[in-house]
Amino acid sequence: MGKPEDKSIKYDLLAHVVRYHENVKSLVDEINRYFKDIEALSKDALTAKCVTYYDETNMHFKFEDAVVFPAIRASGLRPSIKAVMAKFSIEHTKIMDSMKNIINNPENSVQVIITELKHICFQLIAHAKEEEDLLFPEIEKNNTIRFLIGKSFVAQRDSFRGFIMK
Ligand SMILES: [Fe+2]
Ligand SMILES: [Fe+2]
Repeated sequence: MGKPEDKSIKYDLLAHVVRYHENVKSLVDEINRYFKDIEALSKDALTAKCVTYYDETNMHFKFEDAVVFPAIRASGLRPSIKAVMAKFSIEHTKIMDSMKNIINNPENSVQVIITELKHICFQLIAHAKEEEDLLFPEIEKNNTIRFLIGKSFVAQRDSFRGFIMK
């Protein structure tokens, strides 16, 4: 893991996770602003945004489920951490189902979509905070986990096209 290219891969991967979590927090502010001015919001623009939120969240969850969590499991961490990851994966499925529900029901009013989005954001914030509190410190202090994340990502790179968020 001493090669410079390995180092840059690790940096980008972890930066992606942190950036997504930061984006979730700004998304809540964005939705709160929409909520105050629903009249000014075009439904087409909102629907397009929902598709973007869906794609970004899907990619983030996929990265955690297919790369980060298996790396943490393979590093041999204690059972309590493994149990919490199982809970996180279940939450990923629930949140994605709620997002799919918004996208698959375009006939819903702007008010209904925003209310749903707000509900999803509360779940996302709680989920992200728990990951930050329980998993990030483990990743920070454990070189084996970071090495396994980099290795696993490289092996699955083809299924992560468009992964790095701007
Ligand atoms: Fe997650
Ligand atoms: Fe996350």
